[in-house]
Amino acid sequence: MKTRILILIFFLLSTRLSVNAMDGYNLWLNYTKVSESLQKEYQKKITGFMVCGESQTIKIAEKELQNGLSSMLGTPIHRISDQLKENTIIAGKLQSSEELRNSTLINELKNAGEEGYLIKSLKYNNKDLIVITANSDIGVLYGTYQFLRMVQTGVELNHLDILSSPKIKVRILNHWDNLNGSIERGYAGQSLWNWNDLPGKIEQRYADYARANASIGINSTVLNNVNANPQMLTPEYLKKVAVLANIFKPYGLKVYLSVKFSSPVNIGGLGTADPLVPAVHEWWKKKVAEVYSIIPDFGGFLVKANSEGQPGPQNYGRTHADGANMLADALQPFGGIVMWRAFVYDNNVPDDRAKQALNEFQLLDGQFRENVLIQVKNGAIDFQPREPFHPMFGAMPKTPLMMEFQITQEYLGQSTDLCYLTPLFKECLESDTYAKGKGSTVAKVIDGTLENHRLTGMAGVANTGNDRNWTGHLFGQANWYSFGRLAWNPGISSGEIAEEWIKLTLSSDQVVVKTVREIMLNSRENSVNYMTPLGLHHIMGNSHHFGPGPWVSRGRADWTAIYYHKADSAGIGFDRSPTGSNATGQYSKQVADHFADLKSCPDEYLLWFHHVPWNFKMRSGKTLWEEMNQHYSDGVAGVGKMKSEWQTLKGKIDPEEFEHVTMKMEKQIKLANWWRNSCLLYFQQFSKMPIPAKFETPSESLDYYMKYDFKDLK
Ligand code: GCU
Repeated sequence: MKTRILILIFFLLSTRLSVNAMDGYNLWLNYTKVSESLQKEYQKKITGFMVCGESQTIKIAEKELQNGLSSMLGTPIHRISDQLKENTIIAGKLQSSEELRNSTLINELKNAGEEGYLIKSLKYNNKDLIVITANSDIGVLYGTYQFLRMVQTGVELNHLDILSSPKIKVRILNHWDNLNGSIERGYAGQSLWNWNDLPGKIEQRYADYARANASIGINSTVLNNVNANPQMLTPEYLKKVAVLANIFKPYGLKVYLSVKFSSPVNIGGLGTADPLVPAVHEWWKKKVAEVYSIIPDFGGFLVKANSEGQPGPQNYGRTHADGANMLADALQPFGGIVMWRAFVYDNNVPDDRAKQALNEFQLLDGQFRENVLIQVKNGAIDFQPREPFHPMFGAMPKTPLMMEFQITQEYLGQSTDLCYLTPLFKECLESDTYAKGKGSTVAKVIDGTLENHRLTGMAGVANTGNDRNWTGHLFGQANWYSFGRLAWNPGISSGEIAEEWIKLTLSSDQVVVKTVREIMLNSRENSVNYMTPLGLHHIMGNSHHFGPGPWVSRGRADWTAIYYHKADSAGIGFDRSPTGSNATGQYSKQVADHFADLKSCPDEYLLWFHHVPWNFKMRSGKTLWEEMNQHYSDGVAGVGKMKSEWQTLKGKIDPEEFEHVTMKMEKQIKLANWWRNSCLLYFQQFSKMPIPAKFETPSESLDYYMKYDFKDLK
């Protein structure tokens, strides 16, 4: 009896442990044991490791090597502190070790920059070694994570010679977290920052967050919402921020804050925030000095000004450059930067919303201080499932523009949908602006190479929260991961990133990798198809942006759906060609002509740029109405396929994770159907054409779908 109870206790404990192990908390840092054949191979190649240096960053590298290698190789791998043995790994800066001060490495490291690393197989005193080295300790840590990633993904460790350095300088998450713990557009619980308990109580999660970012090369983070609370700059909050900054520092993660432009009035007691009033300048100078006295490694400010009701320089008749430069001057002595957002539009301006940002900013090209980056969303409207690249890219050669992607899936099914965003990110980065002729891609604009800008950045609006698995949907982790990897190197492909993530997070089983890769790579197009095919955009439900809402017509015009789809008896779509708003005219001539001409405009942007008759003949030979039916139906079918493919992996994936994703997919199928049926029935009122016989007729009325209670889909 006693033994039975003991066995039972043991069983309960072990299942509990395994549940904890695969609940998603470890993200892509599971360090799961590799296959037996790989264990054997790696055990020959790695007998121990040596770390050189004393910093906290190096200690982190040491711990990762110790835990990561021991766990993946299935045998304890120890630190060697004295005699170098055959097949040792040495991690450290060159200067920090006698073994590493080898002239060829010094030369090679010249191209690694401040944060890059070199991973190299070499012979020293007749011994085979693998060296992970860099010009800085953080470079060593980045190299360590890369090396561990290679082990986990089964890379051969022969003749290694990898030199890698980030193409973009500021690789930054933007948290839209409020001080009360809520997150604007957050779908994974509450804020990670427990402001009430800081600075006194420190949660393990803070370091785990920094570690996750360091492992994918993210080096900066903005802690609070762009719709900023001025309290953030009070000493009370700055002290809380300082605690986080200290925890993040050894992981190379710098802290930035969003600031409210009217702070001098809100918390400074001034009567104005006019950037040209000396007292306002003074206030910011003092405030910045105070910030740096409390947080010495502070990075700078992110500002949303004169946008969606936020105050800004235009309230005082000044320009965005006046506002940004004032803050830049205050930050400059401390090496801080300003990231000034270009997401500006106003419903009192009669022009097409898509044109307003460029109209505001282009005239200011060349007027910004050197420590200002203009932060531009990937598209001109707002993180839609598909948008053409923002016309500002390539149109402001004298100003460094940084990218703002949205990792949180505000318009992409939030935490219900499996939507792998790398193809969306890549589509924008690979778009050709033709600013300096063919090949002037958006990637080259933002990595600074097109115009020789040294200050460069890529921001991602974070999808993290305090849910145990960080991102709500397990596959949301892939989007955080992918953002980091792309910010380091925009050249990596969607497939490569997907494969890495799958192997690091789910399994290296070939069938799993192949199946999940396929699911991931198709997922974004599925979402576009059942939400906004053929260039449709912004037809989501009012304010929550979750399900369909093509009928939204009340309230601020540029927040309604009818403003964007313009469906009527003649056709559908927003005419942005020269016969309409002429938004196409904001692009370089080649791009403008391509989009403006119905004959060359790609199907995927058709209704973005043109108002097209319902019976328009598409490239496929179908009418526009038939084509629309096809896309909506393909989207639904795609999600169904995704689920049946996932089901084939039962038993090959951790059961808890498998069930979690299955449950999400069931909801996504309902969501996709809701989208399809609503949109087809709604637009049918204008097309007056039947749903083609080969497609299913929606089972309910439009009214039913308009009143649909979607709580259970979230
Ligand atoms: C979108 C989003 C807002 C956000 C804004 C921004 O409009 O819905 O919640 O504040 O973008 O990027 O500033």
